Amino acid sequence: MDNFDFLSSTKIIFGKGTENLVGEHVKRYARKILFHYGGGSIKRTGLYDRVMRSLEDHGIEVVELGNVQPNPRLGLVREGIDLCRREGITFILAVGGGSVIDSAKAIGVGVPYSGDVWDFYAGKAEPKETLPVGVVLTIAAAGSEASKSSVITNEEGWLKRGINYDVIRPAFAIMNPELTFTLPPYQTACGIADIMAHIMERYFSPTPDIELMDRLCEATLKAVINNAYRVMDNPEDYSARAQIMRAGTIAHNDLLSTGRIGDWASHQIEHEISAIYDLAHGAGLAIVLPAWMKYVYKQNVSRFAQFAHRVWDVNVNFEDLEASAWAGIQRLEHFFRDIGLPIRLSHAAIGPDRLEEMADKCRMPNGDSVGQLMKLNRKDVLEIYRLAL
Ligand code: NZQ
Ligand code: ZN
Repeated sequence: MDNFDFLSSTKIIFGKGTENLVGEHVKRYARKILFHYGGGSIKRTGLYDRVMRSLEDHGIEVVELGNVQPNPRLGLVREGIDLCRREGITFILAVGGGSVIDSAKAIGVGVPYSGDVWDFYAGKAEPKETLPVGVVLTIAAAGSEASKSSVITNEEGWLKRGINYDVIRPAFAIMNPELTFTLPPYQTACGIADIMAHIMERYFSPTPDIELMDRLCEATLKAVINNAYRVMDNPEDYSARAQIMRAGTIAHNDLLSTGRIGDWASHQIEHEISAIYDLAHGAGLAIVLPAWMKYVYKQNVSRFAQFAHRVWDVNVNFEDLEASAWAGIQRLEHFFRDIGLPIRLSHAAIGPDRLEEMADKCRMPNGDSVGQLMKLNRKDVLEIYRLAL
C-alpha cells in the first residue's frame, strides 16, 4: 500500500426532507449568498420553492444565477464571478447535479483570484482559497458533492478540463434520495455509469496488494448494480435510490483510492467526446470503458478475471484467465445496454470523422501519456476511439 493523505471534509446531511434544513446550514456561513442552479428541473419539481422558503425563514438574502448546462460552460462561470464580486457575496449554494456543483466550485475559486479562472483549468495556476460552496444534490452521479474536482468546458475550442484540489471540496452536501425520483431513466442510467466508472478507475490500479480497497470497490459495485435494476423498475424505490446516492459519494470522495494510484484514462478519453458532442458524461463512459478494457486487459489479466468473478459472478477458468477476463467485460457491456445506455459511439450517432481531433486534444498529464494501468499514447487513444465505434 502506498503512502497517502486523505481528507473528506464535506459534511453529509442525508435523508428524507433534509432540503428543508438548508437555511439552517447556510446561515453558519453567510447572510447573503449566490443560489446557483441548472436548466429548470428544480422549478418543475418544487425544490426551488422549498429551498427559497428555508433560506427566507433564516433571513438569508439570495442572488440567483440559473441556467447551468450539463457540461458546464466557462462563460457562465465568468458571469457568476462578476456577480459575486459586484454583490459582495461570500457563499455559493449549488442546487442540482455535478454540472451545477462544478460551476459553483469554479466561481468559488475565481472570485478571490486576480487572474482569469481558466488559468486553474489550463494548469497555469493553483487555487489557494475559495468561497465556501454548499450543495443540495438532485442526481446521484458525478460525486462532485464531496469530491475535490471541478470539470468545466471552455467554449473557445470546446476544451473540457478538470481541476483537483482539496480546497474545493464542498462545505456540506444535503442529500435526499427522494429528490432523485424525478430523474428520467436515461439520466439515472448515466449517473449509475459514472458512479461505476469512478470505482473502476480506482480499481484498475497498477499498485499491488491492495485487497482491502479491492473488496470495498467490489462491494460498492455490486450494490450499485443490484440497486440499478431496482430503480429502473421502480423510480420511486426510496431504499434503492438511497443506496445509489450513497454509493455516488463513496465512489468519488477518494476513500477507495487510499493507498494506491488510479487509472483515469477512460475519464480523459471520455471528456473529449462530451466536450465536442455534448453527450452526457455517463453515456460517454458506457461507450469508452468497455473499449478501454478490451484494449488494456492483457496488461493485468488476473485483475480483470478477479473483476469478472467477484463483481459479475463469472466462473473463473483457471486454464484460460483471458476468457474469464473477457467474459467480465462482456457482462459490463450487457449491463450498460440493459439499463438503456449506448455502448458504441454509433449508438450515440457519433461517426468516425473527428476521432483524430479527439485523440489530439486528449490531455496527456503524464507527459505524453494518459492512464496508469497501461500508459496510453496518442496512437493508443485513437485505437480505443476506433474500438468504440
Ligand atoms: O439542468 P436541470 O434542468 O436541473 O436538469 C438536469 C440536467 O439536464 C437533470 N436533472 C438533475 N437532477 C434532476 C434532473 N432532472 C430531473 N430531476 C432531477 N432530480 O439532469 C441533467 C444532468 O445534470 P448534470 O448536473 O449535468 O449531471 P451529472 O451530475 O451527471 O454531472 C455531469 C457533469 O459532472 C462532471 C461531468 O464531466 C459533467 O460535466 N463530472 C464532475 C466530477 C466531479 N466534479 O467530481 C467527476 C465526474 O467524473 C464528472 O467528470
Ligand atoms: Zn465521472
